[in-house]
Amino acid sequence: MKTRYSPINPRFPHFLHGGDYNPDQWPEEVWAEDMRLMKLANCNAMSVGIFAWTKLEPEEGKYDFGWLDRVMDLLAANGAYAVLATPSGARPAWMSKKYPEVLRVRPERLRNLHGVRHNHCLTSPVYREKVSQINTRLAERYKDHPALLVWHISNEYNGECHCDLCQAAFREWLKKKYENDLDRLNHAWWAAFWSHTYTDWEQIESPSPVGEFLLHGLNLDWKRFCNDQTFSFFLNEIAPLKRLTPDVPVTTNFMGLFPGLNYPKFAEYVDVVSWDSYPVWHTTSSDWRLGAQVGFIHDQNRSMKGGKPFMLMESTPSNTNWQPIPKLKRPGMHLLSSLQAVAHGADTVQYFQWRKSRGSSEKFHGAVVDHVGHEHTRVFRDVAEVGAALQKLDGVIGTSVRPDVAIYLDWENRWAIDDMKGLGNDRRNYPETVIAHYLPFWKRGIPVDVIAEEAEIGGYKLVVAPMLYMLKPGVAERLRAFVAQGGTLVMTYWSGIVDENDLCFLGGWPGGGLREVLGIWDEETDTITAAERNSVAALPGNELGLSGPYEARDYFALIHAEGARVLATFGSDFYAGRPALTVNDFGRGKAFYVASRNDEKFMDDFFGALAGRLGLLRALNADLPDGVTAQLRTDGEKQYVFVMNFNPAPAAVDLGGASWRNLLNGAEVQGRLELQGYGAAVLER
Ligand code: GLA
Ligand code: ZN
Repeated sequence: MKTRYSPINPRFPHFLHGGDYNPDQWPEEVWAEDMRLMKLANCNAMSVGIFAWTKLEPEEGKYDFGWLDRVMDLLAANGAYAVLATPSGARPAWMSKKYPEVLRVRPERLRNLHGVRHNHCLTSPVYREKVSQINTRLAERYKDHPALLVWHISNEYNGECHCDLCQAAFREWLKKKYENDLDRLNHAWWAAFWSHTYTDWEQIESPSPVGEFLLHGLNLDWKRFCNDQTFSFFLNEIAPLKRLTPDVPVTTNFMGLFPGLNYPKFAEYVDVVSWDSYPVWHTTSSDWRLGAQVGFIHDQNRSMKGGKPFMLMESTPSNTNWQPIPKLKRPGMHLLSSLQAVAHGADTVQYFQWRKSRGSSEKFHGAVVDHVGHEHTRVFRDVAEVGAALQKLDGVIGTSVRPDVAIYLDWENRWAIDDMKGLGNDRRNYPETVIAHYLPFWKRGIPVDVIAEEAEIGGYKLVVAPMLYMLKPGVAERLRAFVAQGGTLVMTYWSGIVDENDLCFLGGWPGGGLREVLGIWDEETDTITAAERNSVAALPGNELGLSGPYEARDYFALIHAEGARVLATFGSDFYAGRPALTVNDFGRGKAFYVASRNDEKFMDDFFGALAGRLGLLRALNADLPDGVTAQLRTDGEKQYVFVMNFNPAPAAVDLGGASWRNLLNGAEVQGRLELQGYGAAVLER
């Protein structure tokens, strides 16, 4: 079946390449030079106006769009486009002075002074009104401008406000959620504990280090409320844009695994997902492990809209000054990391920042144009090289991938795991654990979707749900149906323990009916010290052909097989011989339970065995050396396979008899594909 998404904006069916552009910080003489350089760098899209509110509205109600008119005209005259921002991420000082309610209040109930960015109340009617006014004017002014391609809403939304307006809005949110029934709220929060029962809605306050912070149900609902306030703030921002420019897609730049915002939920409100990626290459023992982590986040961004291509809104052309080690990208890495985003579904490669800031806190952040001011720099050449590569990949635009595998990464589950008192507090590592389950697939070039608990799972062959502590309504039922209809499910220790309010399931874990699906009862969980280890011994003749031995650490579920077959057992401690890995036949499918946190060898063997048995879709039918992955984009007919070597040393892949064309250099490839250190090929068939 042929399937291709339309380009982000059908007016421009090519890769967007460019970055955050702040002409408002520079004299106009520089702008013409920017245009010259932009073309030399093979750039075609600039994100403008992100932090330009004071320049746009220097006094309340007094607007100055003249400079932005000239910037927009310049872009259009030079064949380029604007990813035009709304400026709510930072506001003019006059506003904070005149309307202190726009200033954010901290959990300690201390109101911030004016400063930095994202320092606004999410509820303040004044702020929402001011944002709506400026956004309306931007849309009115540029709605027919040829340069306008995408709306960039605010910048990296984050944070929360604890002011009285927010407290009142929180209480209203709770009344709605609990249908005006305080008893329901008290039950959901298990508030009788420590006599925390609320007898009046007015007694409810947001969590605070100087007040209540241990009521997990309150903490969870507060996070959900702050998310909903962010979404409604966003919807208020886009209302005039949707009215005046219904055909211009809106996005807001997400921040990868930033814990504060439930991005899969946020994604429902944007037309196209975009995110900002700032890994620090060359600072860990292995670039390819970091590469796999970044690949995971790209996949997560693609999965949020069911496979629709996303935007790499920001990345650095060289270093990231605020990271602990602002190391420069080594030769090859800029092209590789840019193509990596594309490999996983990006239809843009964009940067922070175009021209390096002259002052303030980002003056040492990587930029396309450095302080030296000309194009004769290593970084500029790297950027131009990426632009030239993207120009050869037009055919990739709108393609995607339909993986056979889905892995859960759920934000609310993460909040609950991070907040609980249990499993110790130094090694819960939920996202890291999910990524450890992703790694074996990355190594084999098996595409993966990264999904939230709410996602539909019917189309997958294999669903992996590590540490699915919280089961929101409907999840257990979906997993049950998935297995019953022939799917393969992998669950682990610390799963099916609480409901959406963080109330423990009674009657034996895993709850929600999963005990029957998995055919096990999880009686108790052991946490051992960071230095201790146990082992997992595969039973002779087990149906996956595992041999082991494997090492296990941190967490151990002491389970009973209730119908499941035992494939491996623990090697030592008082639970030596108890089941460590089980499988249960349920309906037409199988449900595996992994009772401990196991080493990489286990992951490789276990998921390798499943991949073979289930015949999971792979990007390439080839053995990939360590540190090399392959990722697939397709429209159902054309296949684009991105083969990427994250090692500093060269590597080779045997492509077998199939014949491909490497779009980066036009060469026909068959047999052995040689890749330089940090080298990549984009193979078309
Ligand atoms: C974030 C912001 C940008 C800039 C970069 C620097 O992603 O969105 O404005 O501060 O970080 O890395
Ligand atoms: Zn507030």
